[in-house]
Amino acid sequence: MAIDYAEKIPNNINIANDKTLQRALEHWQPSFLNWWQEMGPSDFQASDVYLRTAVSVDSDGWAQYGAVKMPDYRWGIFLADQVPERTIGFGDAMGQPVWHQVPGEYRSTLRRLIVTQGDTEPASVEQQRMLGHTCPSLYDLRNLFQINVEEGRHLWAMVYLLHAYFGRDGREEAEELLARHSGDPDKPRILSTFNEPITDWLSLYCFTYFTDRDGKYQLKSLAESSFDPLSRSCRFMLTEEAHHMFVGETGIGRVIKRTLEVMKGLGTDDPAAIRRAGAIDLQLLQKYINFWCSSSLDLFGNEISSNSAASFANGLKGRPDESTYTDHVLRDSTMKLLTPEGEQDVPMLNALNEVMRESYLKDCEIGMRRWNRAIERAGHEFRLTLPSIRFRRSIGTWAGLPVDPKGNLIAKDEYERRKDEWAPSEADRAFVKSLMQKVTGPGKMAGWIAPPERGINNLAVDYEYVHLN
Ligand SMILES: [Fe+2]
Ligand SMILES: [Fe+2]
Repeated sequence: MAIDYAEKIPNNINIANDKTLQRALEHWQPSFLNWWQEMGPSDFQASDVYLRTAVSVDSDGWAQYGAVKMPDYRWGIFLADQVPERTIGFGDAMGQPVWHQVPGEYRSTLRRLIVTQGDTEPASVEQQRMLGHTCPSLYDLRNLFQINVEEGRHLWAMVYLLHAYFGRDGREEAEELLARHSGDPDKPRILSTFNEPITDWLSLYCFTYFTDRDGKYQLKSLAESSFDPLSRSCRFMLTEEAHHMFVGETGIGRVIKRTLEVMKGLGTDDPAAIRRAGAIDLQLLQKYINFWCSSSLDLFGNEISSNSAASFANGLKGRPDESTYTDHVLRDSTMKLLTPEGEQDVPMLNALNEVMRESYLKDCEIGMRRWNRAIERAGHEFRLTLPSIRFRRSIGTWAGLPVDPKGNLIAKDEYERRKDEWAPSEADRAFVKSLMQKVTGPGKMAGWIAPPERGINNLAVDYEYVHLN
């Protein structure tokens, strides 16, 4: 069904048919817009931004591009088309028809899954709200705002589910999604990664590469859900999410490209000389990768989890790409897990967080290989690596243990002595911060990052993607 933009809340699910729901969402809408003004991007609300807006949910040509002032962005409710006669694809009820309402016995678990996902969406907008003031170019500024408005829409996607299927509790949860704030000491966001400040663009690129990719994996597993409205919401969100990871992968790629140019110009790979020339040495980039990758790994939860076992067995949350597996019930299989106490055999159902974490890390490798090829082609030995799944963990069996990036358990004092080699130190952060100067001349680019290969929607790189008003 096409998206109806004549409605106050654009949607493709005919909410005008359900007056109670429509009224409830129209009541939430001004609170959302208030939140956007107060907690969304600082300044730039009067600027014209070259944004894409969904016009349908078909895979070909769902987006329309044009100059929009962010507060006028048409946030709405878009679900992927219903799959006719869809059946449950995993767990103990495999093969039965999917649910179009919430089964009473799963109500609180489903609500928790939706609230936890929903909470991350506005959190990331809050984390990124000051970045516009230090953008490396108009192209990057536009990409930041594109991500921000889409995360705002992802919040709408989850709020719709809460309003439509969870009654009064759902409406209260929707209010709470606007009341918690990233980093707030009294009312923080639910997951710790979403309370980490993002005050520089190197962190933004790492966040969109690693943390938005966690989002991709969560959405993929929720897209498998037997609760069909959740599945349809997440399937459309995934099409938007792809651009966020593109910003991360190309952003880091452009940082590397620029660093390699500076190294060539200077004829040295000495980090201090590279920093003096205003570029980001690869060792420093490695520390940011270590930081954001390990922080994102925590988002998958405990290695051994009875919650994730129940969510799978009951059909609430599957594995990403469930159809590519052969066993969809998992009652008879086990997985070997390395814990600090040694190797353990764990029932597969209880190890699903780890299954997801491992497939996530494989996905993270793809960009790494591309970046390393660029470094290799430039004739350098240095290689970027992903940290071990056990490094710097705050959740799970390895939480709080002194582990080096290769995954070796080491002495606590050695860890303390060397941790600044592995994750950004105060001095590293101060250096990166010193590079963050706002560049907004059309076609101009900050000195620490190379221009992109191409512009947005076939436009030139030097197109005026944001017209500052
Ligand atoms: Fe999102
Ligand atoms: Fe995202």
